[in-house]
Amino acid sequence: MTDGPPPVRIVLLYGGQSAEHEVSRVSAAHVLRAIDTSRYDVVPIAITPEGRWLRSDATLAALQAGPDAIPGVLDASGTDITPLGSVAPALPGQQVVVLPILHGPRGEDGTVQGLLELADVAYVGTGVLGSALNMDKATAKVVAQAAGIPVCRWISARDSELDDAFIARVGAELGWPVFVKPSNMGSSVGVSRADDPGGLRAALAEATQYDEWVVVEEAVDARELEVGVIGNEAPRASVVGEILPTHDFYDYDDKYVDGAAEMVIPADVPPAVAEEMRTLAVRAYRALRCDGLSRVDFFYESEGRGLLFNEINTLPGFTPFSMFPSLWAESGLAYPELIDELIRLALARHAHRSPHRRLR
Ligand SMILES: Nc1ncnc2c1ncn2[C@@H]1O[C@H](COP(=O)(O)OP(=O)(O)O)[C@@H](O)[C@H]1O
Ligand SMILES: [Mg+2]
Repeated sequence: MTDGPPPVRIVLLYGGQSAEHEVSRVSAAHVLRAIDTSRYDVVPIAITPEGRWLRSDATLAALQAGPDAIPGVLDASGTDITPLGSVAPALPGQQVVVLPILHGPRGEDGTVQGLLELADVAYVGTGVLGSALNMDKATAKVVAQAAGIPVCRWISARDSELDDAFIARVGAELGWPVFVKPSNMGSSVGVSRADDPGGLRAALAEATQYDEWVVVEEAVDARELEVGVIGNEAPRASVVGEILPTHDFYDYDDKYVDGAAEMVIPADVPPAVAEEMRTLAVRAYRALRCDGLSRVDFFYESEGRGLLFNEINTLPGFTPFSMFPSLWAESGLAYPELIDELIRLALARHAHRSPHRRLR
């Protein structure tokens, strides 16, 4: 045996404090199954809904026992650890990469990324600014528009401003129906459609349960197209996929409960539309400061304005059946290689940025 450098340590963060806790655990089970444990030293860490970080020794034991034992032990049991302590290398000279398989607020929104910056550790995905920016739908639209990326008509406001004048303004500027969303959320939680002023009041009350800021948008009659982007300085886009919601719209149940929404990969759209979408997606990825990976979602009005940017998910669903890995599989990058590539990009970004850190 030769004395090479110690294997890269992968700290897999999963669970988290958002409505997407369960989804994260499903993704984590698949990632654990796919990671090559002969090349990486894997440390799974569960974040409970209450925000405790647990080194999940049962998960680790299951990982060593064989992949089939993993799903049953992804419960939140284990030894309490401090977040910064958990990302320390175990061996001298060991490289550490944190893989945050966390969706939604307090995971995908820059908070965990801030902690990882403080720890000066490499991590998969977008940094603090891009994570926070893309989690906030209102601010993301402002930046996308400034970069020349078409978006639908919309208005944002904070909860203290939702008076009769605001309702009247929505009717006058957007017409009916409209979509109402918490600005800072995901998984369609708190999203609803309103057909009139009464419906809007109810939808605003629902959305403001989840965030202080809300976004109201014209309801577009459009197809929903999504594309995967990976990379740092030179991002590249996957083939385009389409979501066919079976519910009224692509809501939480459609995404996670009955999972009825269908994915079509590649989407049946003219090649020029797919090409334009890839170009716009890479432009949005750069303007909205993404790194590592993101899924960029568009509406497509075939008879009207064409492609309209909807949102970027900086930590998209990551089961092998989720849109993002499926788009890359169709583009020639299979699930285990996709994970390898993301780890490589995390290390490269950390190395690229380290001189900047020393100068501060
Ligand atoms: N302006 C809109 N017009 C029509 N449908 C919309 C609009 N905004 C959202 N939707 C529907 O609601 C779903 C969730 O909204 P989205 O903005 O993607 O939020 P989330 O971050 O929760 O995924 C979309 O996938 C789509 O089906
Ligand atoms: Mg969405």
